[in-house]
Amino acid sequence: MTASLKRIAVIPGDGIGPEVTAEALKALRTVFAAGKRGAEFTEFDWGADRYLRDGTSLPAGALEMLRSQFDAILFGAVGDPRIPSNQHALDILFGMRFGLDLYVNIRPCVLFDRRFTPLRDRAEAEVNFLVLRENTEGLYANIGGQFKRNTPDEVALQEEVNTRKGVERILRYAFEDARSRPRKRLCMSDKSNALTHGHDLWQRAFREIRQQFSEVDSRHLYIDTLVMEMVRDPGQFDVIVTNNLFGDIISDLGAQLAGGLGLSPSANIHPGQVSMFEPVHGSAPALAGKNVANPFGAILTSAMLCDYLGWREQGNALRNAVRSALREGKCTADLGGKLGTREAGDYVAALLSSA
Ligand SMILES: NC(=O)c1ccc[n+]([C@@H]2O[C@H](COP(=O)([O-])OP(=O)(O)OC[C@H]3O[C@@H](n4cnc5c(N)ncnc54)[C@H](O)[C@@H]3O)[C@@H](O)[C@H]2O)c1
Repeated sequence: MTASLKRIAVIPGDGIGPEVTAEALKALRTVFAAGKRGAEFTEFDWGADRYLRDGTSLPAGALEMLRSQFDAILFGAVGDPRIPSNQHALDILFGMRFGLDLYVNIRPCVLFDRRFTPLRDRAEAEVNFLVLRENTEGLYANIGGQFKRNTPDEVALQEEVNTRKGVERILRYAFEDARSRPRKRLCMSDKSNALTHGHDLWQRAFREIRQQFSEVDSRHLYIDTLVMEMVRDPGQFDVIVTNNLFGDIISDLGAQLAGGLGLSPSANIHPGQVSMFEPVHGSAPALAGKNVANPFGAILTSAMLCDYLGWREQGNALRNAVRSALREGKCTADLGGKLGTREAGDYVAALLSSA
């Protein structure tokens, strides 16, 4: 692998995944051509059709191949009503998140235009924060079991895993990220008043690590207070760091504050290793094949991918093009526009090639 040529694996997935990924690729190809950046895209057909055809979800050896041969992964979405168990989606998505140890989930909540927030009288600058979610343990470690299933005495256990290594590394990442941002503010959130074992570990690690980052203005909020404050006064937040479950929930709240799922990007990162970039939304089966899905979440996701590759100029160009399209009303119907998925993607690509 040469330093200048980046290799990007593309997994469009199911439902609207392929439609929005095609627009993200169009935008990436345009911005790479304009900036003379060398990238090679390799597409994989992992998803519901393949699973139904031959039973393959995440193929054997896939993780090793991704790790050794690629710099980044652009992912669409998975989920298909023909597979009610969602098994293929769990295998593919959690397979990559856990198998590649992508321990930081980054969800920027940035309001591009005040018309899109459901909050009254808010300026763009008042919704501009990052949610950093621990992405490899917590309640998602899939440890537990069921006893006396389907009887009146049924017991279901789901264990939350918090390791010293896992908690420390996400907190350290969050402090480093906060230190690099203009406002240098960090809020750690947990429920340590009730979850006195696992979240006490978060408290102790937080108190230790914050001492190494005196330039960061850091504080703690219980998760129930945090959600109230996010709605009451989102402008107070810069970087929010929390565990897997709470991060999953509050990043959707943050997505709504910033204009909804159609505009929300995310990254799953292990610094220095192959990392995965996906829009926050799912496969929205009811919208699939109709050219109505909003591609901007996927295009903003590709901007995060550029940042990760060290190509910040291209990332900013993608964000600016989406911002301009939104301001001009050149968007899909979920945001009040009249364009289809392809037309909205074409508009952004045209802005990029004329910049
Ligand atoms: N990361 C992922 O791949 C991922 C994430 C969430 C859900 N899913 C899967 O997706 C399937 C559908 O799940 P869901 O309905 O709960 O969530 P979803 O995100 O697919 O859709 C939720 C709502 O948002 C709308 N929406 C989503 N993306 C949009 C876009 N780009 N443009 C316009 N509107 C958009 C949908 O129409 C729907 O009303 C399920 O199988 C679920 O398991 C996958």
